[in-house]
Amino acid sequence: MLRRHWVLAVVVVIAALAILLLARGAFGADAERGAALYESRCGECHTTSVHGRAKRVAKDFNDVRGWVNRWNDNLGLHWGDEEIDDVSVYLNNTYYRYACPPTVCKVVSLAAPDRGSPH
Ligand code: HEC
Repeated sequence: MLRRHWVLAVVVVIAALAILLLARGAFGADAERGAALYESRCGECHTTSVHGRAKRVAKDFNDVRGWVNRWNDNLGLHWGDEEIDDVSVYLNNTYYRYACPPTVCKVVSLAAPDRGSPH
């Protein structure tokens, strides 16, 4: 019956969405690390409200990451790409909510060894 197939399709789509939501949960661990890094290194100067202000300067995910990278340099923290990604994803998840480039989010969630490979 055609109608049954339609119902089945809806069930499949809902299942796929549920899986996507669960996969998002996999970012949690790294965003938590980002939160800890941020709190220990960045909280002393600006309160986190700087990221929620109306005239915030970061306009997309790459901007946020650029700022994290800039402060990493300014403070001489020697964070690697992994820490910078974690803090960027944490700030983005918590305040900015910009679209996260799949390369970053995928790499962060899976901690894939081929990080940074050209694409
Ligand atoms: C020395 C003080 C200081 C420290 C330490 C500091 N910041 Fe900042 N941060 C600022 C100031 C001041 C601004 C606002 C700059 C502006 O308005 O142009 C800012 C702005 C930002 C922004 C942009 C906010 C926006 O409007 O979207 C980001 C992102 C950011 N900081 C991240 C970090 C991170 C990550 C760290 C830790 C690695 C850090 N900051 C440490 C002083 C600091």
